[in-house]
Parts: sequence; C-alpha cells; structure tokens
Amino acid sequence: MSPNNVKVSLKQHFLSLGLAITWLSGYLAKAQDFRPSFHFVPERNWMNEPNGLIKIGNTWHLFFQHNPTGNFWGNIAWGHATSTDLVHWQYLPIALGSEDGIQSFTGTSYYDGANDSGLGTSANPPYLAFYTGYFPDSGVQDQRVAYSLDQGATWTKFFDNPIISREQETPHDESGGLETRDPKVFFHAPSNRWVMILAHGGQNKMTFWTSSDTKQWTWQNDFTSGNITGLPDGIRGWEVPDFFELPVEGASAPQMRWVMLITPAVGSPAGGNGVFAVTGSFDGTRFIADPVDPATMWLDYGRDFDGALSWENVPASDGRRILAAVMNSYGGHPPTETWKGMLSFPRTLRLKEINGRLRFLQQPVVELDTAGTSLTSMTNQTILPGQTMLSDIHGRALDIRLSFIPAPGATLSLAVRKGGSEQTVISYAQPDNTLSVDRNASGNISYDPAAGGVHRAALSPDESDVVRVRILVDECSVEVYGGEGQAVISNLIFPSTSSDGLALTATGGNVELESVDVLRVSL
Ligand code: FRU
Repeated sequence: MSPNNVKVSLKQHFLSLGLAITWLSGYLAKAQDFRPSFHFVPERNWMNEPNGLIKIGNTWHLFFQHNPTGNFWGNIAWGHATSTDLVHWQYLPIALGSEDGIQSFTGTSYYDGANDSGLGTSANPPYLAFYTGYFPDSGVQDQRVAYSLDQGATWTKFFDNPIISREQETPHDESGGLETRDPKVFFHAPSNRWVMILAHGGQNKMTFWTSSDTKQWTWQNDFTSGNITGLPDGIRGWEVPDFFELPVEGASAPQMRWVMLITPAVGSPAGGNGVFAVTGSFDGTRFIADPVDPATMWLDYGRDFDGALSWENVPASDGRRILAAVMNSYGGHPPTETWKGMLSFPRTLRLKEINGRLRFLQQPVVELDTAGTSLTSMTNQTILPGQTMLSDIHGRALDIRLSFIPAPGATLSLAVRKGGSEQTVISYAQPDNTLSVDRNASGNISYDPAAGGVHRAALSPDESDVVRVRILVDECSVEVYGGEGQAVISNLIFPSTSSDGLALTATGGNVELESVDVLRVSL
C-alpha cells in the first residue's frame, strides 16, 4: 500500500467513524425522545396549555389540554398529574374526558367552600372545574362545570351542562358562540359573587360574567383592546385569560393590583403567541386597566411560553402566585415522537415598583433548589476577552446562576448544550443592555421556520451595576431569567444527546464574575 493509499483509507476510516457517531447520537436522541429530566411532559401523546391548576391540601394538581390517543392536537381532554413539590410529577387518569362528541377545553378549578353550587354538601364542599365544551361537528363552544368530592382525585361532569349556552354567548361573540372559551372563574368576596372571564378566539376581547350559584351566569361587560391605553397594534386573538390580585412590592404604602394575563395568538416579541400582563382595578364587575408599557408588558421574550395560567387555592401562608405555560409554539412540528408539548418550569410572578414603574418579576419556584447538586461554584474572578471557562463541565439538565459586572463594551456569553458544531448561546451585551438567546446552532432547527433565530430582551444592571442571569437547561429547553426576573426568554432546543458542554467567554472587555454556580438537576 502506498503512503497515499494509507492516507485515503485513514480518511475513509475517520469519515465512517464520524458518520457512526452522528448516527449513534441521533439514535440515542430518538430512543430517549428528548424526554426532559425536570420538566413535565405527558407520559404519551400531545399536550397544549396547562389549565385548572389548583393546590388541594399538600398536593399541586396539574391539568392540561391533552390528546390521550394521538401525538397531535385533537380529541382534547383534561390530562391530570399531581406533585407535592412542583418538581416530581405523578401521572393520573384523565380528569375530564373527551366524550359524547364534546371535548374539554381550557378552564379553571376553584374551591366552592360554601357549596354555592350545591354540587357538594356543606360538610364536604366541592372543588369545581369550569371548562369549555367543544363540539367538533358543529364548532360550538359552550361553558360547563364538573365537580370533585374527593379532593380533586376524580371529577364528575354536572348533569345539567352547559352553564352558559351558545344562545347566551351569541350576542357577545362575533362568531356567534363558535369562539367563546377558556373560562377563568373565581369567587370575589367583596361583592359576594362568582366572576367568570371568557376569551373570544380571533377577537381582541374578554367578557366578564357574574353568578351567585356558579350555574346561572349573567353577562356584565366586554373588556377589549380599546380598554387598554398604550397597547401596541398587531396583538390579536386573545385567549386563555388569567386574573388575580398581587401585592405591589416597593410601593410607599401597602397596595394591591389586579393582574390580567392574556395569551394573544399573534403579536408577541418573538412572533406568534406569547403572554402579556395588564394591571388595573376591579370592583367585582368591571376591570379598569392601567396604561400598559410596551417595554414591560410581556412575560417572556422567547418563542415558547404561552397559555400561562396560575395555581389557585395556594394557602396564604405560602402566598405565591405560581404560573406555568406550555412550551411549544410549533403545533405538531417538534421532533419528538412519543410526546409533544412541555410544561414550562413553574415560576413565581411578583409585582414590584422599580424606579416608579410596575415590573413583573418571575423566578423558578424555590423547590428546584433542593434538586440541584453543585458541579462548580466560584466567586470573584475576572474573565478576559479570549478566555474560556466552564469547558470542563458537562450536563444536559442544569441550573446555572451568574452574577457579574461587565466593563463598558463587554459581552459575556455562555454556550450551553455545546458539542461539535452545536451550541445555544446566552449573552449579555453591556453596550446595549441586552440579554439574548441564540438558537441558530442549537441542533435541529429544520422542523419549523421559527425554530432558530435570536431572541432579545432589554435588561439593565441593578443599582450596584451587577447583572444576574439564571439559566435552566434541560433535554430540549433553555429558560433564561434576567435580573430579578424582569426579562425572561424561554425556548425549546433540540440538540444531540452528546452536546452537553458549556463555554463561558467574554468579548469586547473584561467581565468581573462575582459568582458562577452550576448545579446538575437530578430527580
Ligand atoms: C389555546 C387554545 C384555547 C383552547 C385550547 C384548546 O391554545 O386554543 O383557547 O381552550 O387551546 O385545546
């Protein structure tokens, strides 16, 4: 064999080795199907948004829009899972089925402590689940109730549904009751009445309804885009309302504000759907919205956070408002075969006055802290342009906390899920105070035109010039929380299983690293 032939055969050898490795990592990814380590996904098949979230006793109940028989949207029922820590979930049988030609769309669970509905007894008051009945044959959407007398374990549909019929909806809905859905229901103590907020798909409005017995409802008023001063044009198709009161932190006197969360079908910063929040006052009938600031109204700047709803019935001793949403804005496209649709990691929502402006602050729930084991922890180091740190750390399920002061002109970048040519890059650029997530080399981005790209959110350092960033990495997701949680970017990614590296780098100037903590999340 001539030396040239040896070269050719060596080259072929390496080529086939490379092909084998690519095939193997593809095979492993498929076998494991991107099933996350610490995020909830259905045991099998499709989910879209969470709904009916409620805490009963020590148990967090998660219901979710679920197709139990297919890995695509359709045949929608309320899937059910429970947890005692919002981290470990146990799958339970379907709570509200798709049956008799009626599917069970999004809604609310709520404790009827006074048995106003009469669906329980005063000795054993019921938990109620309000949901939309969807008739695929006619397209009708009406409002229904079910009840649980065993602390949320099983649910019975009310025999005399619907509680709001298509006929009742028609005068208040452009489509004549074909797009009226997603009841957010709660008991309003000051007015001693039940309140329901309904979305009107394809329309930019919610309607408010009231009831004294949860079964007979009266329309009160419309709340539309015209009622929100400062709302930018192009945010259309409001769905999935949530509505609750939050204390205003940092205010000169104790103060509460009502908050409405809305998932529009289009117009979010990352394109497509997203979640924005509006504060205001509420007298039991009418919501008067405060003017919105387009720079602070979005809860997330990534592509994958929509249909956000919060847990009800959280005891005052806990006091948290905890949200979860679905991560998947690409319909059936994500390359997972046994499941589709993932729950965002549960996050708290707070309202704080910062420099005279109300800001929405979000953070992963603290229950995650006990699931982490430290991989590295360092303090007070300087990273210089051209230097790389953390390249000896590997992991696909990580909780990373950075706190740093960038010199003028500096950008700090952290590549996660790095391997071969793959990486997802989280950056903070000092020159324009911007937090960003670049998915262009994140792995498979061919499954949907919106799967790559860069998402950005404005983020100023705190009053001591420190920038804080918390990053949750899992098998197919990255959630980035900036500052106190005023800038959040959540995205799905589909890297190879073998891409598990990290790289922390600086460009354009030094970055003083106050602290860097990397924890492996293992359940
Ligand atoms: C939002 C939504 C809701 C509806 C549900 C049906 O994604 O369209 O408005 O209740 O999905 O699964």
